[in-house]
Amino acid sequence: MKLRDFGIQDGISEVIATTISPTGKPNAAPIGIISDKKICARIYPDTHTYSNIQATKKLVANVVSDPLVFVLSALGDLDEKELYIVDEIPVLRCADAWVSFECEKDEQDDTLIYLHPIKGKVLRKRIWTIRRSTNAIIEATIHATRYLATKDEKYLKWIAHYEEIVKKCGSMREKEAMKKLKGFLRGRYKKL
Ligand SMILES: Cc1cc2nc3c(=O)[nH]c(=O)nc-3n(C[C@H](O)[C@H](O)[C@H](O)COP(=O)(O)O)c2cc1C
Repeated sequence: MKLRDFGIQDGISEVIATTISPTGKPNAAPIGIISDKKICARIYPDTHTYSNIQATKKLVANVVSDPLVFVLSALGDLDEKELYIVDEIPVLRCADAWVSFECEKDEQDDTLIYLHPIKGKVLRKRIWTIRRSTNAIIEATIHATRYLATKDEKYLKWIAHYEEIVKKCGSMREKEAMKKLKGFLRGRYKKL
């Protein structure tokens, strides 16, 4: 099985990981799939994704092109209606493709998770172009999660920089994604 056929390339591909808790609660959050000699991910231990993987050893990588889904799943919770279950693991309805993995923790490094592909599906193929605004939202969302974890104000400056790019180049939906991102940060810290 070639991950490239499902949109996951060499280097790091940003996807939405879906997992399920032992009590059956689905979860979605962005992670980077690292495809080098081995396929792996580095997952923060204080996340639902990490604890679900510990419990079930299963994860689905959803290849998603809508940056709003990255914002909502990183900083809030997606509506459960956005998910359906395949082989007991949640999958996102908006995914262009998905791959399910068996997860194995590295023996020395607790945050390093090796991913063994089980199966995948391509649901739709899109014609796409490189967009500064899409990339800017993804970068801003990563910085937002780091800001929430560390409270380091440098991340707020970087988010403001990416916001300018979204203002200049973004679609209505991308502008909405940036507005939501700032709303999440304001709601929690009232700084932006
Ligand atoms: C594009 C993007 C990539 C991310 N990659 C990772 C990652 O590789 N590992 C990780 O632990 N968190 C990553 N994060 C942060 C998590 O998505 C974030 O901490 C999230 O709130 C975890 O949610 P959960 O508790 O529901 O699992 C990423 C965030 C974004 C926006």
